[in-house]
Amino acid sequence: MDMRDDVLEVLVSTEEIQKRITELGQQIGRDYEDRNPLMVCILRGAVVFLSDLIRSIPIHVMVDFMGVCSYGGTNMDSTGVIKITRDVDANVAHRDVIIVEDIVDTGLTMKALVDLMKTRGPNSIEICTLLSKPQRRKVDVDIKYCGFEVPNKFVIGYGLDYDENYRNLPFVGVLKPEVYEKRKEEKG
Ligand code: PRP
Repeated sequence: MDMRDDVLEVLVSTEEIQKRITELGQQIGRDYEDRNPLMVCILRGAVVFLSDLIRSIPIHVMVDFMGVCSYGGTNMDSTGVIKITRDVDANVAHRDVIIVEDIVDTGLTMKALVDLMKTRGPNSIEICTLLSKPQRRKVDVDIKYCGFEVPNKFVIGYGLDYDENYRNLPFVGVLKPEVYEKRKEEKG
């Protein structure tokens, strides 16, 4: 079965993503010249974005990973209370941190992450996200680097999952409603 059969529409094509990532990489390169930023990738969705993004940045960067899950949230909604399932190895103090995400939705996860990072004494913190859903925002987050603003649709692909599937689609698409309706029925 081809995963693409479950895609209602392509929201952001592979070509559009690559073009935008090239722009973001150049912008980060200019903004952080001689500063060796620490790119903190939030697992798992952001790994696809990170791997393309770092290859478009022309300066030295360090990469680290953080695993986060939302306490008491459902598949669809986060709560703002986060649990760190894997912390960064790097010492964040005095570093220029760039948090790399696949999507900022309500903003609750990102706000909690930024607040946590701030307690560790970094020199600076900025946010780089592939996607942002401004219509869903519950708290303000200041996003310096944003790939695309997307409407409030069920987006999958290029790292974003539904039930851990579709992360390996090479574009951002909208999931056909019947796929998650069917799954809901199966789960009762
Ligand atoms: C997604 C995304 C953010 C969070 C955004 O992660 O990667 O971490 O949700 O939601 P918010 O703005 O409403 O807080 P998810 O829990 O789906 O984990 P994953 O990256 O492993 O798929």
